[in-house]
Amino acid sequence: MRRKMVAGNWKMHGNLLENKPLLNAIVTNLNGLQEVSFLVCVPYLYLPSVQDTLRNTNIAWGAQNVSQYEKGPYTGEISALMLNDFECGYVIVGHSERRTLFGEDNRTVSEKYQAAQRAGITPILCVGETLEQREAGTTEQVIEEQIASVIKLAGIKSLANAIIAYEPLWAIGTGRTALPEQAQDIHSFIREGLAKQDANIAKDLTILYGGSVKSNNASELFDMPDIDGGLIGGASLIAADFVAICRALHQ
Ligand code: PGA
Repeated sequence: MRRKMVAGNWKMHGNLLENKPLLNAIVTNLNGLQEVSFLVCVPYLYLPSVQDTLRNTNIAWGAQNVSQYEKGPYTGEISALMLNDFECGYVIVGHSERRTLFGEDNRTVSEKYQAAQRAGITPILCVGETLEQREAGTTEQVIEEQIASVIKLAGIKSLANAIIAYEPLWAIGTGRTALPEQAQDIHSFIREGLAKQDANIAKDLTILYGGSVKSNNASELFDMPDIDGGLIGGASLIAADFVAICRALHQ
């Protein structure tokens, strides 16, 4: 069955002092809500304390990146097996900031996706186009290539244990959200494309929208038939906003 989800992406924000009250407020306010999966993806260093705080709650935790390698001489990298030590259920791969600022190409992202799955961790595969690509009319082609690269390496069936997040780059952190219809168009393009390869995989795949989702626009996005939730950056750092977005999906 297709699972609904709200995932927070803290990016490089937070500290031990501030994380605690943020998490406690989220736990308290989402307690008992079962129909939607809630998740926070935090900086690696905070995984142990987040694990302690969220264990036995209905909020899951995950990482924002993972090495494509299992172990070895890769200074500064973190493997999926290390994430297992902290019971991470999920990891974001291919976030546009990784792609554009840290040079991750489709091949690397696909390897990271596969490394996560090998360790039993669900990858959240981010896809999306730049403003230039949208204006040039290549949005669908870009997204198709991003997803095809993963399928080529890991196979279509791998999507049974993955989540896709559509995040147009022009909407991330800009305050400029895709219109619900614009987002829906791409979500249904993704689902229909996958359905040609495997109808059941496509039907059950959770596809999140991300890019300036706020408490005042979440409901209209989540009302769209192919939008199964959100990947939330800035608003995931403010307890009241994140909770409101989570509740908008839970309704
Ligand atoms: P934003 O970030 O909600 O701050 O736009 C979303 C993301 O980058 O995942």
